[in-house]
Amino acid sequence: MKKTIAQDFYNDPRIEEAKQLIAQTVQEHASKITQVKPADDELKQSYEKTLEDFSQKRGGKLYYDYLGSGIGNGALVELADGSVKYDFITGIGVHYFGHSHPEVIKAQVHGAVSNTTMSGNLQQNIDSPKLFNLILEQANKYGAGFDHLFMTSSGVMAAENSLKMVFQKRSPAYRVLAFEKCFMGRTLSVSQITDKAAYRKGLPHTLSVDYLPFYDANDHQGSIDRVLKRLKEYFQRYPDQYAAICMELIQGEGGYWVGNTEFFQAIIKECKKHNVSVIVDEVQSFMRTKEMFAFQYFGLDQNVDLVNIGKNSQVCATIYRNDHKPQPGLISQTFTSSGSAISAAYYMINEVASNGFLGEEGKIEKLHQYFAQKLNRLHEKYPQIIEGPWGVGAMIGLTMFKGDLAKSKEFTFKLFNNGVIGFIAGMAPTRVRFLIPAGVATTKDIDQVSKIIEDTIKEMI
Ligand SMILES: Cc1ncc(COP(=O)(O)O)c(C=O)c1O
Repeated sequence: MKKTIAQDFYNDPRIEEAKQLIAQTVQEHASKITQVKPADDELKQSYEKTLEDFSQKRGGKLYYDYLGSGIGNGALVELADGSVKYDFITGIGVHYFGHSHPEVIKAQVHGAVSNTTMSGNLQQNIDSPKLFNLILEQANKYGAGFDHLFMTSSGVMAAENSLKMVFQKRSPAYRVLAFEKCFMGRTLSVSQITDKAAYRKGLPHTLSVDYLPFYDANDHQGSIDRVLKRLKEYFQRYPDQYAAICMELIQGEGGYWVGNTEFFQAIIKECKKHNVSVIVDEVQSFMRTKEMFAFQYFGLDQNVDLVNIGKNSQVCATIYRNDHKPQPGLISQTFTSSGSAISAAYYMINEVASNGFLGEEGKIEKLHQYFAQKLNRLHEKYPQIIEGPWGVGAMIGLTMFKGDLAKSKEFTFKLFNNGVIGFIAGMAPTRVRFLIPAGVATTKDIDQVSKIIEDTIKEMI
């Protein structure tokens, strides 16, 4: 069969050998990282200076004093001050396969030795169709019937693109529905949807958004009744003016609130009566439940029009049906992703799809149960300090100190110093949350992390 020069190039034994050599070298060095470790006194001095200088140049202090050294081992990461920490936040949900994973590195090398750094709409390589097929195949696993995918450079750009497709289809409808406490990103338009006043302070009004109460697990029927009542009021007040409803099925930045199938179905049924397109935002939930997509976890395969993915997927994208196909010119971008990211995305998604991660008995669910059990024990031991855990799959959150923002922040800083990176989410209550690197995390990692959480609690009582 006729082959391209590139096929010969990628199959050149020297490329495979080079990949093996790099992976071996990484592993040899990474394997020295075995446990949490404090900063090195000597490295600390220049580290602090670099951090100070960097903070000044970027125009503000980093949340954590975090600058990675460039290596890690599984869930552990080395910082440039020589310290080692458990990364249980993974760049807010990106480093699913943790740090210095040999297969991820090999996949990245494949992309890195390709002819260009970036891929764009005008010119992309043969790896893009392969990735598109994989993502669409996974999205259609239960017969959802999505037709297309548009790759883009960030989660919020996936949101922008899906909104544009919907507005074009539904024109002149211009209003958007979203859930209270939702987070969708921070562009000029999407910051109007993200339900946080501080994120749009001083910005001009670009979108008209009306909010719906999210699901309350303690009041199932009440949640449905309340949301339908609110929807009906909106549809009465603004007839034919709604184009889209944006749904974050598991609220991430809002504080790890988990929705419910019946609740979503009731909303979607009402929206469909009014020709409102359903956009599901899976930028944080993709690959985090026991299904690849949260819309599959909630059984909404037939009800969703567009799905945005990002973070864990390494590349960001809007998945959509033919009836939302944009007219030429509406969406495009100079570059959408790097070759390394496209190649790594394929490896990671394929691994999760085919290697024991999904389903009731899958690794994601097992890690969840294990961590939840540990945290629950801490709740029983320190009921005044810890409530929860909440969340689903590889998204786990706690309410600490009754959701007090200052104390929750203080906890995350102390936890960071003690060797575990978590983060906060939500407001009133603020929650402490973890995004487990499910691709690599082990029960031993969870034991260590839980112990450090307990030690940190002890420091604060
Ligand atoms: C649910 C959700 N949507 C959209 C975004 C925006 O993604 P990005 O920061 O990649 O633009 C985020 C980011 O945290 C998110 O959690």
